[in-house]
Amino acid sequence: MNIDDALRAQWAAVDRYITDRVVVQDEALLEAVRSSEAAGLPPIAVSACQGKLLHVLAKTIGAKRVLEVGTLGGYSTIWLGRALGSGGRLITLEIDEKCAEVATRNIRRAGLSDAVEIRLGPALDAMAGMYRLGVEPFDLVFIDADKPATADYFDWALNLTRRGSLIITDNVIRKGQLINEGSDDADVHGMRRFMDRLAAEKAVTATVIQTVGAKGYDGLAIAVVN
Ligand code: SAH
Ligand code: DHB
Ligand code: MG
Repeated sequence: MNIDDALRAQWAAVDRYITDRVVVQDEALLEAVRSSEAAGLPPIAVSACQGKLLHVLAKTIGAKRVLEVGTLGGYSTIWLGRALGSGGRLITLEIDEKCAEVATRNIRRAGLSDAVEIRLGPALDAMAGMYRLGVEPFDLVFIDADKPATADYFDWALNLTRRGSLIITDNVIRKGQLINEGSDDADVHGMRRFMDRLAAEKAVTATVIQTVGAKGYDGLAIAVVN
């Protein structure tokens, strides 16, 4: 086993230790993962510990309106949806019909059908549309879709939030490739563009946290709107 595999195994084992104790998943969450895999969706949902972090943050700010960009099978949606207070609402944007179908079933199984709405189509169009309509600002936006467009989602998220809202962005570290300016990976360059955007944006107070765990080495950006 090379050092990389050994480290990854340890990160995963520690995540299991945590999910056996502090971050316990119920049947709806476990089935969301299983059904996504069975449907052939890629295994790229947030980890349980990361999902719970989203839940904790949403709960901390008493989020009543949440926007998610990138639904996949609805796993992160369930964590976020369960943090909503009564009357809370979550809109999740997904371009892929099969993902949306799998997510619809998973969200129903979690008892969140009334609070959660999946909007099928390109997220940029949906965000621009909501802005045009002048929808009520979101308390929390979770950006987790196609990585090259992350900076654009962030721009729209700023338009769709208010002072005190959180904008959380997944997968910003990419195994550390974030700092490789010569990378040939469009996702890495998407995140570098997002980082430049974040660095220049006076409207938010932000940090970026590297993470290890069941999903390997990556990280997330957390920004609060000033
Ligand atoms: N948030 C999910 C994982 C999302 S994976 C979780 O953690 O459980 C990224 C998702 O973004 C995929 O389902 C993909 O189909 C979707 N996606 C990619 N490009 C998109 C676009 N332009 N608009 C909306 N969704 C998109
Ligand atoms: C990928 C996408 C994700 O949202 C994620 O959390 C991990 C990986 C990917 O496209 O590789
Ligand atoms: Mg992600």
